[in-house]
Amino acid sequence: MEFKIFDTYEEASKYSADLVADVLKEKKDAVLGLATGSSPEGMYKELIALYKKGEIDFSEVKSVNLDEYVGLDGSHHQSYRYFMDVNLFNHVNIDKKNTHVPNGIAEDLLEGAKAYDELIDSMGSVDVQVLGIGPNGHIGFNEPGEELLVHTHVADLKEETIEANARFFESKEEVPTKAVTMGVGAILKSKKIILIASGKNKAWAVQQMASDVITTKIPATLLKLHPNVTVVLDQEAASLL
Ligand code: F6R
Repeated sequence: MEFKIFDTYEEASKYSADLVADVLKEKKDAVLGLATGSSPEGMYKELIALYKKGEIDFSEVKSVNLDEYVGLDGSHHQSYRYFMDVNLFNHVNIDKKNTHVPNGIAEDLLEGAKAYDELIDSMGSVDVQVLGIGPNGHIGFNEPGEELLVHTHVADLKEETIEANARFFESKEEVPTKAVTMGVGAILKSKKIILIASGKNKAWAVQQMASDVITTKIPATLLKLHPNVTVVLDQEAASLL
């Protein structure tokens, strides 16, 4: 696990975008594993800028997102499908048919989760997986617990996650309490992982990633088992290292 620390979030975002761009330059039909939330927003802006400069091309790229809230369809402004469209897909030449986000409104969520794993498997492996991290150490919506799940599943969001995400909604009560998320299996199977963390509220979780411990109670610590992880941080997120 390699830690890269930058003075500002903007510099961290630029570096993360360059890492993704390197993958795209090497493999035109790369499979990108994508995250939503504040952490990768800056990186998506940089990727759009690189695309506009003609440095990268998304025409053959496929993408799979980590997660989606249960109960929100893609037109809901806080759905992760909407986030991806607005923050990246609408601005680059990716074919929307090649972009995938778990279905949070499937009639049968378990069937939908199984189909999502089959879809990921059918794409070969994810070439680069982008991750954020929850203040409690969650990755995707794999929340801290006695055990973690390998496959895509429906997760109950922890109270602290609902509180952390309430900033995007009118009120805390509107935050969905469940999400469909890729399991840690798919995350660990990806060829390369870039985890972006910014701000003081991530410093504890980042410190745990740098420790010697692996525990399901801090899901991001499992990334220590992966051979190719770059953790990209601003000063505040790195403040306890
Ligand atoms: C989002 C996701 C989550 C976030 C995490 C951090 O797709 O999987 O794990 O990465 O909750 O969120 P932000 O970046 O908003 O602090």
